[in-house]
Amino acid sequence: MKIEILTLFPDIFTNLLSESMVGIAIKKNALEVNITNIRDFATDKHHTTDDYPYGGGAGMVMKPEPLYHSIKSVNSENTPIVYFTPQGKLLTQDIVNKYSKLDKFIIVCGHYKEIDQRIRDTLVTEELSIGDYVLSGGEIPAMVMIDAVARLQPGVLGDIDSALTDSHQNGLLGCPHYTRPPEFMGMRVPDVLLSGNHKKIEEWRTEKALEITKKNRPDLLERFKLGNR
Ligand SMILES: C[S@@+](CC[C@H](N)C(=O)[O-])C[C@H]1O[C@@H](n2cnc3c(N)ncnc32)[C@H](O)[C@@H]1O
Repeated sequence: MKIEILTLFPDIFTNLLSESMVGIAIKKNALEVNITNIRDFATDKHHTTDDYPYGGGAGMVMKPEPLYHSIKSVNSENTPIVYFTPQGKLLTQDIVNKYSKLDKFIIVCGHYKEIDQRIRDTLVTEELSIGDYVLSGGEIPAMVMIDAVARLQPGVLGDIDSALTDSHQNGLLGCPHYTRPPEFMGMRVPDVLLSGNHKKIEEWRTEKALEITKKNRPDLLERFKLGNR
């Protein structure tokens, strides 16, 4: 799969692309990430990419021309174009799963006050948010998406079951995990996990997942019960 990133701050991505699961995905050719600097598509001699907002007010707006030409430089027909914005639909595991199966998609990273609305109206195919707070730019949301889809690419994780049993894949949060030693500072690993009884272990994990979801995300539990994810 190929992800095209359009940004004014390409260096932000450097470490992400060589470390951990994203680095492994790229080394294994399961993922290609191409970074394009929107500033390269500015047409004036000062390489201007933002300007004052019409109507006045604080903050600068990213100009449409460099955005338009940078998108066109990496776009092919029907390629999904994501714009991360606090105004977008909340990014969920279901949406990540959908994007992880594509051959290619584009992420446009906004910055400053906003990007020119005409780009959103005409080129962007989906607006997504990573949560109800405001960051300085779309680069961190783009990194979130890259990491989330990279770990789902075939052959990237040692055992894909690890990703498929994580929080959110079945609509619930994950369960607690323990490793050696069986006792640490007086705290024992629950007996059931040492029992070797796989049926009982599965039942315990489901019970804990339901308990944690009820405590921390009752909204998810309600949706899970309704079969409405
Ligand atoms: C300072 S924010 C702009 C916020 C915008 N004026 C608003 O009120 O919605 C700059 C850029 O960061 C990105 N961004 C900030 N918070 C985000 C979030 N929670 N999810 C996704 N993108 C976000 C977007 O690309 C946004 O255009």
